[in-house]
Amino acid sequence: MRYIFLLMLLVSAGFLTACESTETMELQHPATKIPAPASDDVIEIGFSMDTLEEERWYKDRDLFKQAAESLGAKVKVMAANGNDALQVLQAETLIDQGVDLLVVVPHNAEATAAIVHKAHLAGIKVISYDRLIRNADIDYYVSFDNEQVGELQAEAIRSLVPKGKYVYIGGAETDNNAHLFKQGVFNVLQPSIDRGDITIVYDAWSKNWDPENAYKHMKQALEANSAEIDAVIAANDATAGGAIKALEEAGLAGEIPVAGQDADLAAVQRIADGTQTMTVYKPISILAEEVAELAVKLAAGEDMGTVNTVNNGKAHVPFLLLPPISVDAKNLEETIIRDGFHTREEVYER
Ligand code: BGC
Repeated sequence: MRYIFLLMLLVSAGFLTACESTETMELQHPATKIPAPASDDVIEIGFSMDTLEEERWYKDRDLFKQAAESLGAKVKVMAANGNDALQVLQAETLIDQGVDLLVVVPHNAEATAAIVHKAHLAGIKVISYDRLIRNADIDYYVSFDNEQVGELQAEAIRSLVPKGKYVYIGGAETDNNAHLFKQGVFNVLQPSIDRGDITIVYDAWSKNWDPENAYKHMKQALEANSAEIDAVIAANDATAGGAIKALEEAGLAGEIPVAGQDADLAAVQRIADGTQTMTVYKPISILAEEVAELAVKLAAGEDMGTVNTVNNGKAHVPFLLLPPISVDAKNLEETIIRDGFHTREEVYER
């Protein structure tokens, strides 16, 4: 009965289409096949993802699975595609299935605290992956230095435009990272703003990191400033893409420096073409490998020793921060292409 009810819930929440895992396929027939709990010897990790609707998260999913499997663990992946209630429901399912540990990429920094609470009641530890879950007693947080991401963006753009009108296109306000990226940008720009050299003429969050929202913001910014804008910093490459589309329509693409983040293929191609100035490259394989190793150790009950901590509003959470890399047309070759993040053919020969 419980599973029939769960099936109804899943169907109504769109779960069956958003869930994507070979290991979780049995969920498509929950009434006939009840998932077995994890066996004692193989560590099973539940990977609860915000979304698989953006390029970077495919890499995260594949690299994380690969890294965990190379350590002998199994991974069950579920992606909620931006739906908070669904992400909690999926995490509950993973807990019910008996995973040994949960790795969570939160869509909503606050709403996912419920997942941590439920996991802990079941004796399961939780690692916050790339994005911080706020106001919950999470066991570990691993990410890139997100404030530094914003600093790298602002340093690159300010060196080209030391004085002028800037537009800031932010990410999703519900994502803790979006706040850190913005903080980093303003750490660098504030002295120039205080001197009156730089004016922020437009500054807005882009709901759900949607490029369409970024496009609308950029159009508004151009209209409100009679197209007199000198620089654009966008919180990631998808939003930079939206902003560049609006610049293209105004005949300004390639005329105004634009910063993004993630080294998405489309963005790297724009850098090669000259319509985007820079991106911030985060080698995802390192993040995936660090989290996989940590997950296996935590699930096995190993003591992690003394570590750095970050306050997430409720607890001092052990964390590991990885360094991001600033990339423009000059160092594309020795960073993104050298690492095989994208091939030379993909970037230049289209
Ligand atoms: C990630 C970025 C990503 C953005 C949108 C952020 O939390 O750190 O790499 O572009 O989410 O998915």
